Amino acid sequence: MTSNAELLEIAATIARRAAAFAWQRRRDGVEIAASKSSLSDIVTRADRETEQLIRDALAASRPRDGFLGEESGGGSSQSGLTWVVDPIDGTVNYYYGIPAWAVSVAVVEGDSDPATWRTLAGAVVNPVTGEAFTASAGGGARLNGERLQVTTGVELPLALVGTGFGYDAEVRRRQAAFVGELIGEVRDIRRIGAASLDLCSVAAGRLDAYFERGLNPWDHAAGALIAEEAGARVAGLDGGPADRRLLVAAAPDLFEQLHPRVERFYADWE
Ligand code: IPD
Repeated sequence: MTSNAELLEIAATIARRAAAFAWQRRRDGVEIAASKSSLSDIVTRADRETEQLIRDALAASRPRDGFLGEESGGGSSQSGLTWVVDPIDGTVNYYYGIPAWAVSVAVVEGDSDPATWRTLAGAVVNPVTGEAFTASAGGGARLNGERLQVTTGVELPLALVGTGFGYDAEVRRRQAAFVGELIGEVRDIRRIGAASLDLCSVAAGRLDAYFERGLNPWDHAAGALIAEEAGARVAGLDGGPADRRLLVAAAPDLFEQLHPRVERFYADWE
């Protein structure tokens, strides 16, 4: 059996290679290949090429494992392990040249469903800043090899909170309505534009908390493990596993204050 540390080595090596490739493509010039769920939900040619690079590398080194990627859908697992990949998280930032995008690679045990899976290892690599966030289950979280720890002891009124918005106009109007309430109750709010980096920012103490509704499994698989391994609590509705309906991440003491506040707003929104 492959250890979590060995799985992390594979995830980090492939994520670094893919990130270098995507960054080279960015310098060559970005091309939008298509719009997806809405006009603002874009996919670039580099998203597709980067995912293919990752998929090919995993097929060569881990042929029995499954694959769940943002751009090319799923592939079934014979080993019980599945790789969950966002080739470019923060595609809109990538398109505009804003240096907050990352390659996210995680490996999970069980079904490729965040409600039941257990994440074993994950890597989030931003090639522009040269930052590689990594974690393995039980092995802690690191930024370029340095151990990460969430900030504790922050009260909600002093918390810097990250969030994100979906691509659907009606959904983002409702999300913004909640942000309009919350912004009067916290230090400030950030919308950085890449869920994986938001979660890594909680791990690194650059954000005190992060929440979002509407995330896809590949947006949070690696980042959630990195936040948890740095000491954050990450959960969804009713404190269960995070899923499309809700993800909240923060140090446990701040989580206790923020989660009920977010949940009150999001619980009855199907
Ligand atoms: C998006 C980003 C964004 C978040 C969206 C995601 P993508 O991922 O993570 O920050 O608010 O919910 O869909 O489309 O850039 O891979």
